[in-house]
Amino acid sequence: MHGNGETSGELPTAQLVAVADRNAGNGTRHTVKIRDVRKAFGSFQVLDGLTFDFADDAITTILGPSGTGKSVLLKHVVGLLEPDAGQVMVFDQDIWSASERERQELRKSFGVLFQDGALFGSMNIYDNVAFPLRKHTRKPESEIREIVMGRLEEVGLLAAAKKAPGEVSGGMKKRAGFARALVMNPKVVLFDEPDSGLDPVRTSLLNDLILKVHKEHGGTYVLVTHDIQTARKVSDYIGVLWKGKLVHYGPAKEALDSPKPFVRQFLSGNSVGPLGMD
Ligand SMILES: Nc1ncnc2c1ncn2[C@@H]1O[C@H](COP(=O)(O)OP(=O)(O)OP(=O)(O)O)[C@@H](O)[C@H]1O
Ligand SMILES: [Mg+2]
Repeated sequence: MHGNGETSGELPTAQLVAVADRNAGNGTRHTVKIRDVRKAFGSFQVLDGLTFDFADDAITTILGPSGTGKSVLLKHVVGLLEPDAGQVMVFDQDIWSASERERQELRKSFGVLFQDGALFGSMNIYDNVAFPLRKHTRKPESEIREIVMGRLEEVGLLAAAKKAPGEVSGGMKKRAGFARALVMNPKVVLFDEPDSGLDPVRTSLLNDLILKVHKEHGGTYVLVTHDIQTARKVSDYIGVLWKGKLVHYGPAKEALDSPKPFVRQFLSGNSVGPLGMD
């Protein structure tokens, strides 16, 4: 067992692994596994021993208050941050025991949509989406064009292909970022607050798009959000991160019906409960 004997919030690490094992028993494979990952910045322990597996071919949502380490967790998964201790396993390979070259290769199996969409302002939408293909493959432009146009059509941006990111709305930027994240056919897609800065209707449309694309292509999707409606709509699994620990992880319905005070407070957005401003 990978646990360290400490409790992870209300659930002992061993039980969290048991949740993962239960998934494995259902025939679920795990492309991404987190094993007792710790990370501190200075004296601030951001991740305090996380152990769990992301279910393949499912959408897992990570919820938690601001500043709790959600983005830091995603950066560990893509290998942008190195844990102080513990392992991040991708395709059963510890990404930090791998060489820099192997790590680069592993990164190609990820599609990432960061908090701000992170499009290149100097390139039009088409070139932004084509960028990973031009950088990481030797495909001819004709083939790249076919793939990029397919992805742009999928996210409803064919008409905006020639526009610069500065000329389109926030929702369109997110969709362009999503198209770019998908262009290499990644096995793992990570979204950091795809809904931030979007109005409720655009959030809902983006969620529909995520569900549609996931249904069609499958893959391990991990989505970080503050938005409970988003979590309700898209999640197969929900993890709740608080004070460096995963205080809940399991099927979405279980989290949404959870009797645990913190999970209940967070999922209901109630100001009364264990969660304060600190
Ligand atoms: N590179 C870094 N150097 C130092 N501290 C960092 C670094 N990255 C994150 N932190 C700190 O780690 C904590 C967790 O940050 P993180 O961005 O993961 O929060 P979050 O849960 O994503 O919050 P939000 O919901 O507001 O996006 C914060 O206190 C942040 O200041
Ligand atoms: Mg964040």
